Amino acid sequence: MATSADTFPAGFLVGASTSAHQVEGNNLGSDWWALENRDGTPLPERSGDACDSLHRWREDIDLLASLGLNAYRFSIEWARVEPAPGQFSAAMVEHYATMVRYAIERGLQPVLTLHHFTHPLWFTRAGGWEAPDALDRFSAYTAAVAPVIDAGVRTVITINEPNILAVMQTVVRGEGELATGLGGGLPHPHRPTAEALAAAHTRTAAELRRRHPGVAIGWSIANQCVQHLPGGEQQAAAYRHRHEDWYLEHSKADDVVGVQAYTRTIIGPDGIVPPAPEAARTQMGWEYYPPAVGEAVRRTRTMVGDVPVLVTENGIATSDDTQRIAYTTGALQSLAAAIADGVDVRGYLHWSALDNYEWGRWDPTFGLIAVDRNTFARTPKPSAAWLGEIARTGRVPAEAR
Ligand code: BGC
Repeated sequence: MATSADTFPAGFLVGASTSAHQVEGNNLGSDWWALENRDGTPLPERSGDACDSLHRWREDIDLLASLGLNAYRFSIEWARVEPAPGQFSAAMVEHYATMVRYAIERGLQPVLTLHHFTHPLWFTRAGGWEAPDALDRFSAYTAAVAPVIDAGVRTVITINEPNILAVMQTVVRGEGELATGLGGGLPHPHRPTAEALAAAHTRTAAELRRRHPGVAIGWSIANQCVQHLPGGEQQAAAYRHRHEDWYLEHSKADDVVGVQAYTRTIIGPDGIVPPAPEAARTQMGWEYYPPAVGEAVRRTRTMVGDVPVLVTENGIATSDDTQRIAYTTGALQSLAAAIADGVDVRGYLHWSALDNYEWGRWDPTFGLIAVDRNTFARTPKPSAAWLGEIARTGRVPAEAR
């Protein structure tokens, strides 16, 4: 691929990502809503109206387009499309199809996620991914949203971060804790969930390919950028296999693989090595580590060979927008260097378009655009126009301003 280290290849997508539950609001039929609202919930905050994007999606798309971005990744909320088992809402299918058409009209290429962490509550109550009919259910849902894809989608992500979803199952069952913020690494994935997700992906990807020829189908994997200290090689390899390579192996037959990376994980002879006390951390508690995304796409390529890569998420939770620009500069430079070395990267979708509901908390602000929690007024931050300029010119940022 012809590219130099200071420009992205022609046709390179530069855009932003969201997920339905995190921005839409009042996702009453989903298992996350139930979790947030049950007595004794472990989650400190509720999603509530979220960013009210269920009603304000046009404004979101208009803003991203006016900023100069050329792609928008968003997800369909399964619980809205299928509020009761087997009962599909034609109106909600049409809602998402309208979003697709509108994004295209405004010059944004839609990247569509079919499943982003949440499930209809009825699905979870019936046993979730371990229920005997789970795959049939997911397959039926993905068939029902065909009109959304047919509205002009060229890239579909079946399942967002199955590797994190499987870890969440371990946490939900009280069999492990999420201590990433402290550099503690991830608990083991819940094996039966992981197996079911892989089977669901493999099956629906094949079905989608038959139904929508020419549309690129894949899933997106959270990359931990595992590094090792001397003596930590074996543990690092085992951790990487368990948390990421196993999933990437299921990407080998795909048309695209989504890469999502934010920080790194270091493993020594005694296991996970937390970041040094003086290391800068983001609002998530994660180590500030801009080259994560470049390392992630390189590593992904060693696993999936020639399958094209799309960065479906990368970003930083910070209240300091100058730091967001600095982080993203480093990230894009690391990405451009990987491309120059031959990794086939088709685009970069920043997480996130909006400050949104971070799965139990509102304080981490990942957005290019701030959202007033009471009026829902959107205010683009300087980083939004800065990224829009990169989308328009294709130029790799030279240094942090
Ligand atoms: C998820 C997003 C999340 C982001 C930041 C990813 O794991 O796909 O939904 O908000 O990381 O934590």
